[in-house]
This record gives sequence, structure tokens and C-alpha cells, in this order.
Amino acid sequence: MAKYRIAVLPGDGIGKDVMDACRIVLDKLELDAEYLPGDIGWEFWCTEGDPLPKRTIELLKKTDCCLFGAITSKPKEEADAELTPALRDRGLVYSSPIVRLRQEFNLATNLRPCKAYAGNPLNYRDDIDLVVFRENTEDLYSGVEFYPLPDEVREVLCKHQPKMKRFNQVAADEVAVSLRIITQQASRHIVRKAFEYAQQHGYKSVTVVEKPNVIRETSGLFVREARKVSRDFPDIALWEANIDAMCMWLIKNPQDYGVLVTSNMFGDIISDLCAQLVGGLGFSSSGNIGDAYAVFEPTHGSAPKYAGQYKVNPTAMLLTAKLMLDWLGESEKAGCLENAVAAVLREGKIATYDMGGKSSTLEMARAVAEKL
Ligand code: NAI
Ligand code: MG
Repeated sequence: MAKYRIAVLPGDGIGKDVMDACRIVLDKLELDAEYLPGDIGWEFWCTEGDPLPKRTIELLKKTDCCLFGAITSKPKEEADAELTPALRDRGLVYSSPIVRLRQEFNLATNLRPCKAYAGNPLNYRDDIDLVVFRENTEDLYSGVEFYPLPDEVREVLCKHQPKMKRFNQVAADEVAVSLRIITQQASRHIVRKAFEYAQQHGYKSVTVVEKPNVIRETSGLFVREARKVSRDFPDIALWEANIDAMCMWLIKNPQDYGVLVTSNMFGDIISDLCAQLVGGLGFSSSGNIGDAYAVFEPTHGSAPKYAGQYKVNPTAMLLTAKLMLDWLGESEKAGCLENAVAAVLREGKIATYDMGGKSSTLEMARAVAEKL
């Protein structure tokens, strides 16, 4: 029996392209793993009414961790229209399979390293080494939303919050409400993970990125918890920044920052910004990490216009595999893989379209495999 059982969910569009590239490299690394393919994505919404079928959840439960490519998702109207006719008018509601995976397996930490590798022509600056820790299960992405706004909910909100009265005359179907839910427990947990990472990897600071001057309760709670956790790490400075200013500082002086920690939506936004500083979505890897399970995925989506063309950059997916190897404790293989990616980028002979080159997804993967 193989040492590891790894669920492989290519998903939609270029998810399949980059997963093929990833397997070339993992096979060359001779990782002692059994790969179990599973279903996820738009196709399964359209044909089964569920983009994350129960059998996929069951499959994941039988594995050590999951490698995931990307999925397509579309707004409500299109989701309803593309359902197979037999499933229409049954009140099926599309919900993001990735968000569901994060919640189902309690993958509370979203880790997104953004490093400028020498030779990458897309680097914004050459000395960037950022790592974003994003809380992964709550905040505005909790899915606690109301539309149309039920009268009972409105009454309760008005009773407890005078500022709500301003919206009292708006008709129920002319207003939508999404709740930003932030708990002490999840805030402490993500901040602790960020500090532990900073300690292990020699970073001198952790920057908590929120907006407590305006979103006083939820951001306020997050920052308070960050201050408490930081006391356990006297050698690492806690810096505090507002999300809007941080976007500006990251463009101005990205090299001044190391580990960033924030809640779910700000983390989603800022990690795309950080990704672009080091070459864009083709370079951006991520891990969704829980205590017992983890799902690793490139940050990019399914890029439908490039689907099946083997044109996109597999680097994000390869660095994602590196994160998985780290998590499995295969640090030697992880290091080899990162070095091989770095070597190919440094030489600059193989480059995909986004880097101004003409190499294919698989050529790039083979070049990395040759370096191993
Ligand atoms: P996207 O990430 O799929 O692509 C945006 C653009 O980024 C592409 O057109 C391409 O120019 C570039 N790009 C992305 N990956 C690249 C790669 N590996 N190499 C080179 N260039 C790359 O985002 P978009 O177009 O907003 O969304 C497309 C679909 O993907 C939508 O259905 C969206 O909902 C979904 N999506 C899924 C995500 C996931 O699976 N985690 C994340 C983001 C979007
Ligand atoms: Mg995103």
C-alpha cells in the first residue's frame, strides 16, 4: 500500500490542464502516493444539481489530503438556467464547493505564499516574500444572507441597532443583507498560525490587516485577539494596518512586509493583490489547512477561455504541490520541487504566454521535472 492517499479533483477548465502538469512532477519526485480522482465543478451542478457530490466528500474522507485544480462558478440566474431541465424548479441553490469544503472539513487556515522568484519577468519587485494567512471559514463568507429580507429579521435588527432604522422604509425585496460573523476562537486560531509560521521561517513581523476604525465590532474583535496572541511571541513584532492603506503600502513598499494575517474577505482580496506582485495568478499557490485534513489549490480559477489548450502557467499548481509536500512532512521533496521551479524560472528558457513566452503547460512541467 502507498504511504499516502491523495484525492485529486481537477475540476473545470484549466484545472485539468494544470493537474496533468502537476502529476508529471509528482511522478518524477516518486512520491509514494495513490491518487484517487474525484468529481467537482460546474458539470456536476448542471447534471446532478450539486457541484460537490456527496461521493466526493466520502472520497476525501478516505484520503490524507486533497489536491484541487479549479472550478467554474456563475451567478444565480445562469446557475438556474444551466441546470438540466429535470432539475429545474426544484428550489436547488448553488453554493460554492470550495467554501463548502473549507467549512465541512474545518479548514480554518488559508495559507498563500507570494514569493518573487529570480528571473520571473513578471515580478513587480525582485525582493518580495509575502505570506498571507487568511481566516477561511467565517466573516462575510459564512453564507448567512437574507434576500428578500424577512420581516422578523428586520425587526430584530431594528430593535438592537438604531442605525438599522434608516433602512426601515426599504421594501423587503429591495434590500439584501449579508452578515459579517467573526469569532474570537477563529481569529485567535488564524493569528496563532501566522505567528507560528513567522517563528518557524524567521520573519520578524506579523501584520494584522483589518479595518477596526470603521467596522468597529468585527474588525475590532479580530485585532484585539491578535494583540493577545502576539504576547506569546515576544520576538516577533505585531504591526497593525487598515486594509485600504495596506493595499497602497503593498504597492509602494512590498519588500517591507512578511507575514500578513486577516479575516476571510480581506484575505481573499489582498492575496490576489500579493499574487500580482509576484507574477499573477499563474504563480500563486494556496493551502486550506485544518487540524486533520488539508486541501491544496492554486489561487486561480478555471480560466475558461484557455481550457484544454495547455497554454496556462502550471507554476501556481506546482508550488501548490510543494505546499502539500511540506504539510505531509516531505520537506526534502518540497525543497527539491521549489528549487526546480526556481531554476527553470531563473534560466528563463521555458516560459508560458503570461510570461511573454510560447511554452506549453506541459513543457514547463517537464522542464521542472528534468531539474529534479
Ligand atoms: P481566473 O483565475 O479563472 O482567470 C482570470 C485570468 O487570469 C485568465 O483569463 C488568465 O488570463 C489568467 N490566469 C489564470 N490562471 C492562470 C494561469 N495558471 N496561467 C496564466 N494565466 C492565468 O478568474 P476568472 O476569469 O475571474 O474566473 C473564471 C472562472 O473561475 C469563474 O467561473 C470563476 O467563478 C472561477 N473561479 C474559481 C476559483 C477557484 O476554483 N478557486 C477562483 C477564482 C475564480
Ligand atoms: Mg479569490
